[in-house]
Amino acid sequence: MEFTSEIKKATNSIYQKISKTMPEIEWSVHAPYIYEINKLKKEKNAVILAHNYQTPEIYHGISDFSADSLALAIEAAKTKAEIIVMCGVHFMAETAKLMSPNKKVLLPDLKAGCSLSSSITGADVRELKRKNPGVPVVSYVNTSADVKAETDVCCTSANAVKIVNSLGVKKVIFLPDDYLAKYVASQTDVEIISWRGTCEVHEQFTDTEIYEIRKNNPDIKVIAHPECPPEVIKASDFAGSTSGMIKYVRDNQPKKVMMVTECSMSDNIQIDNPNVEFIRPCNLCPHMKRITLPKILDCLKNETNEIIMSKDIIEKARKSVERMAAIGR
Ligand code: 13P
Ligand code: SF4
Repeated sequence: MEFTSEIKKATNSIYQKISKTMPEIEWSVHAPYIYEINKLKKEKNAVILAHNYQTPEIYHGISDFSADSLALAIEAAKTKAEIIVMCGVHFMAETAKLMSPNKKVLLPDLKAGCSLSSSITGADVRELKRKNPGVPVVSYVNTSADVKAETDVCCTSANAVKIVNSLGVKKVIFLPDDYLAKYVASQTDVEIISWRGTCEVHEQFTDTEIYEIRKNNPDIKVIAHPECPPEVIKASDFAGSTSGMIKYVRDNQPKKVMMVTECSMSDNIQIDNPNVEFIRPCNLCPHMKRITLPKILDCLKNETNEIIMSKDIIEKARKSVERMAAIGR
């Protein structure tokens, strides 16, 4: 696609925002797609939702709403658009569909999965319930709709502890993230039965690398996602969801910070926090990175890659997300 002077002019205000993190040569490749996508989404009454791990040209260039998975789920339900394009992974698109069953939900690459979500099936949850009769199931939002349909209440990393405590029971089945389960267990008296799922991105971080960084940067703040191993959380100054981490940087304005999470996050928020120096441990989520501007344009133009689910699963799974939304953050 050609980077014409008309496109340059029309997209200049977006480029001014991200110019410090993106050279002009790279922008000239993205801008024609950004221009077309923004035009098309108006024509089609579509809304573009982007997870915080999307690349800056998506996050700043075309998204109407960027957030963590809880806020994306809530926003999906509120939007009046006829089409939702989810720039994120499959379970996020499914969650958007659950919350907006009458809208067309498109995922630019249907192969954008998640190691947590694929670690467990609906049949696995039924087996867990059979083995633990009467124990409520709390599922992390990083699960398929089939798993959510077997779940009493969903949670995200932002509200997991609150959800578990709100149930007023002594024991819960908490799945699928074993590390998040351990984190929750450290913050509550409720007994947690966990599953063996892990995030393939966050499990790569180690406390040794944090101690090494601290040695050379004594005043650095280290903030980690709760999907990290427990010893990494212990070695950090703060743990929170992606939006929680963004808020921490915005509110505290540390001189230097290391975000122990997917590395596009640092690129995205550097722009709004010019006085903060980001030390980037670069672990990319291969699933999130499947979403690109050409794929977004193609799926919006042709309305392909639609998320289709049975009414029964939609109804059952939605209840678990609605219960979470009612309990709130
Ligand atoms: P958040 O809910 O914190 O955005 O996390 C989603 C995710 O996939 C993290 O790996
Ligand atoms: Fe799943 Fe981890 Fe990727 Fe998030 S970062 S989508 S939890 S694999």
